[in-house]
Amino acid sequence: MSARKIFATTALPYANGNFHIGHIMEYIQADIWVRFQRMQGNDVNFVGADDAHGAPIMIAAEKAGVTPQQFVANIAAGRKQYLDGFHIQFDNWHNTDGEENHVLAKEIYLDLKKAGFIDTKVIEQFFDPEKNMFLPDRFIKGECPKCHAKDQYGDNCEVCSAVYAPTDLINPYSALSGAQPVLKSSEHFFFRLSDPRCVEFLQEWTQNGKHVQPEVANKVKEWFSVRTNPDGSTSEGLGDWDISRDAPYFGIEIPDAPGKYFYVWLDAPVGYLASLKNLLDRRGEDYAAYMADEKLEQYHFIGKDIVTFHTLFWPAMLKFSGRKTPTQIFVHGFLTVNNGEKMSKSRGTGLDPLKYLSLAMNPEWLRYYLAAKLNGRNEDIDFNREDFMARVNSDLIGKFVNIASRAAGFLSKRFEGKLAALGAEGQALLEQLRTQAPAIADAFEKRDTARAVREIMQLCDRVNAYVDANKPWELAKQEGMDARLQEVCTTCIEAFRLLAVYIKPVLPAVAQQVEVFLNVAPLGFADAQNLLGAGHAIGRYEHLLQRVDVKQLDALFEAPPAPVVEKVLPGGEEIAQTIGIDDFTKVDLRIAKIVNCEAVEGSTKLLRLTLDAGEGRMRNVFSGIASHYQPADLIGKHTVLVANLAPRKMKFGVSEGMVLAASHADEKAQPGIYVLEPVAGATPGMRIN
Ligand code: 2FM
Ligand code: ZN
Repeated sequence: MSARKIFATTALPYANGNFHIGHIMEYIQADIWVRFQRMQGNDVNFVGADDAHGAPIMIAAEKAGVTPQQFVANIAAGRKQYLDGFHIQFDNWHNTDGEENHVLAKEIYLDLKKAGFIDTKVIEQFFDPEKNMFLPDRFIKGECPKCHAKDQYGDNCEVCSAVYAPTDLINPYSALSGAQPVLKSSEHFFFRLSDPRCVEFLQEWTQNGKHVQPEVANKVKEWFSVRTNPDGSTSEGLGDWDISRDAPYFGIEIPDAPGKYFYVWLDAPVGYLASLKNLLDRRGEDYAAYMADEKLEQYHFIGKDIVTFHTLFWPAMLKFSGRKTPTQIFVHGFLTVNNGEKMSKSRGTGLDPLKYLSLAMNPEWLRYYLAAKLNGRNEDIDFNREDFMARVNSDLIGKFVNIASRAAGFLSKRFEGKLAALGAEGQALLEQLRTQAPAIADAFEKRDTARAVREIMQLCDRVNAYVDANKPWELAKQEGMDARLQEVCTTCIEAFRLLAVYIKPVLPAVAQQVEVFLNVAPLGFADAQNLLGAGHAIGRYEHLLQRVDVKQLDALFEAPPAPVVEKVLPGGEEIAQTIGIDDFTKVDLRIAKIVNCEAVEGSTKLLRLTLDAGEGRMRNVFSGIASHYQPADLIGKHTVLVANLAPRKMKFGVSEGMVLAASHADEKAQPGIYVLEPVAGATPGMRIN
């Protein structure tokens, strides 16, 4: 069979954040599939790129004080550590603001226009008069028209889940400037998805069982009959797709339409082709010729949240611009962590890929675990810590790695690493392993890695049963059993090599170590059909994989330490217990003028104040402020009097109220008493509320 020619991609991540575990899962799934294809001798180009355009990135860049290009470059610089870290091997990583994408997106658009698939319509949208820009739905906030929750986004309410149009919001405001947005009309470009030619094509394309998984086809089918409008109402059939945005916008300018840009989702998937072209150009290969090859197969790995774009818009754009449509869209579900708990960083339930690597956790554990869970269907999977430990330690290491470690030592010590010929039993066992090759290959091909791993582990069980039945450690102790020992260990090593072939797409680094240990060239899938053979000398066995330590998992899921907030004690003491407004209004505070002030004979602490609180009489008030004020400092000033405080009889006379003064709780550490004085204009008798 001649080699297949394959072009594979993963979804292009927005360049405004680091990878999370969901990205890594998709890349691992695709990387396993690509490695499998290569082991089959197929010719694959596997590319990714950053999705650079759109309003959120433009706004984030502005906030960061850099150009959008610089912003995207900064994010891109952080990608390698993740990809290398998890042994994900893209042939190219580009970005959608690259020259190739500008050219290709415009070409596709112009071809669509020529074919009559582009319309223009004037539509009304919210406009931020301060920022001078149209606002994307996510940047308009206001009160929910249904439940009246404040600060809800322009497309749906997070409190009551209502879906509505931004224009339905009560008291809308711009999340960028706070300004009240105004409705403004502008001409937009639309891709005519509702054109009967388009509808007919998409119905056939999505429902003919060739291009999407059955569960995805079923979902897509609904969109041909009903669709939900921005205001929550429903309409029949496919609606036209708004593909333009007005300046200012970080994107690709629409030809012959100054100030109009392609909506980010128009040029994002074109980025798949742009990244491929960038790769081929660098290699000196011809992009047009590559794409023109009838045999070329094109696959896109994506998550279930972006199915519409990849099963409707993208194939339609390609088809009606006269280009090759994708062979298949591979949709996966989401990854939840520890029994579907919603991921949250502060509660430590998320799985941070960089933290995983920084804890020296082996990336191939995660690859193996995800492979054991993913079945090629659009279903969510859960990362569960106990399950992870069990599968890695008991299955991967206990069953697979152990086979080598049980046999290799005897061969090196006793037989200079040389293999013998297989006996009848050994041949039968190897034959059993070999016959599973097509089933395992079929599972990998269908991305049902869970089935592939299951099959491989069952084969490991058979080999381990053979080891248990033949007990090499006992043969080693018996006189005259050398030949038998060598034969049994040979069977183990031949079997181990075969299993390593099967698991290699999942565990590329382990497989490479195995190749060194076995002294063989890089293994391909066809190698499952041959043997090392008698006389082949293997190398020294070095331990292939450590076990997962529970402490690593504890550390991985440990919530980041709560930021140390030193308790702030305002003025040196806690704020007093909460009171109601009624409690407060019980205290009658009035402006009073200090008409006289004098020292009190026999007291170093007190000053005697004569106060006019607008009552037509004077009040006599003693105040403990002598250490900080000379009487002359205060005469003529206004202050605040607690006017309804019960009079108090003191050694020097009756005090008819109290003046307000500020001080720190720790008088020694922070001495000072400050009598309150109203801002100029307050007159005696005014009440303080
Ligand atoms: O949903 C997302 O993260 C998008 N950036 C995916 C784009 S995929 C492709 F079309 F570029
Ligand atoms: Zn609501």
